[in-house]
Amino acid sequence: MKDPAVGVQFDVETTRHSGMFGNYGGAYVPEVLAGKLTTLAATFREAIADPAFRRELKYYLRDFVGRPSPLYLAERLSAEIGARIYLKREDLNHTGAHKINNTVGQALLAKRLGAKTLIAETGAGQHGVATATVAALFGMKCIVFMGSEDVRRQAPNVERMKLLGAELVTTDAGTATLKDAVDAALGYYIQHPDVFYCLGSAVGPHPYPSIVREFQSVIGAEARTQILEAEGRLPDILLACVGGGSNAIGLFSAFLGDPAVEMFGAEGGGTDVAGRRTAATLTCGKPTVFQGTYSYCLVDEQGQPVDAYSVSAGLDYPGIGPEHAYLKDTGRVQYAPVMDDQAIAAFRLLSRSEGIIPAIESAHAVALASQVLRGTGKLAIINLSGRGDKDIGRF
Ligand SMILES: Cc1ncc(COP(=O)(O)O)c(C=O)c1O
Repeated sequence: MKDPAVGVQFDVETTRHSGMFGNYGGAYVPEVLAGKLTTLAATFREAIADPAFRRELKYYLRDFVGRPSPLYLAERLSAEIGARIYLKREDLNHTGAHKINNTVGQALLAKRLGAKTLIAETGAGQHGVATATVAALFGMKCIVFMGSEDVRRQAPNVERMKLLGAELVTTDAGTATLKDAVDAALGYYIQHPDVFYCLGSAVGPHPYPSIVREFQSVIGAEARTQILEAEGRLPDILLACVGGGSNAIGLFSAFLGDPAVEMFGAEGGGTDVAGRRTAATLTCGKPTVFQGTYSYCLVDEQGQPVDAYSVSAGLDYPGIGPEHAYLKDTGRVQYAPVMDDQAIAAFRLLSRSEGIIPAIESAHAVALASQVLRGTGKLAIINLSGRGDKDIGRF
């Protein structure tokens, strides 16, 4: 079978591994990567069971990233919407988003494997910055792949990556956005399997969705303790934006076993869901194999992956992590598109009502909150996945 994502011939049946979420997930990769991913899965399992690894991870999360991130009661936003809303302040992490939680963890895995080079894809630039940051921290080389459209729309993060010593490889393929950056990074990984691919979301072949979930689960674990301390009870509703799905699964994971806690994922609706100028993968897509995993994907009539569109570079992706596909099908989490103009309005609303300028990605979750929570009086947590410095002057 030919994988349109990586353009390499491989046999699905012989390279499929575990890492299933219901029917979704697996590892659809060429033979050259299958062995690497098996080693990575084993190293990951050993590492998270090793108290020394956990101690080191905790140390960097506290003293380098600045965790725990606060759970902040947004009083003016709450009054505006008519609910009781807390913000999980991932925007306050070092480098300004949740992405650093995952890159610290993956860089420690890379160290354990003896890798000297980290490669990464990036859309909004936050994962690229977070990877360049940990590469500098641990004295590793870093190569970041980014679409030229995203280089244009997230310019401040491009400068940050360069300052941190990363080599930036720009791609003009396709729409020159996140999907094309992932293709370029996967292509490089296939040619250079000795590097460590630091994948930025809960997507791609097994074991990446499980690795990224684990390293982002700190968000939900902290939020659960913090809300119980502040309110003496669990929240009614959780909300997060969904690109590949890492900040959302990081928050949701601690509450999946609590049936009374409702969960909502905000997809990048773009400008026209019916006309397919959208990145609303779970709303409009179909299950298919894409970039190494079986999950929902935006496809054409022939079932081939198509380009996504969202004003938000971090949500502008036609795929989605396999666990979210499973959570959608089982009805445990509800996913809804948020249109560009609604997200931009929420970007302004949060800036003016709370003095917090959110990333345009996170603004999608705020916009969905203002629909779902309006006048309900419910207790909610919105995952504020990142800060909006990179988006200033864009709208
Ligand atoms: C601030 C921010 N939030 C959310 C996302 C979306 O990614 P994910 O769905 O993996 O959390 C990105 C991606 O770049 C981002 O930069």
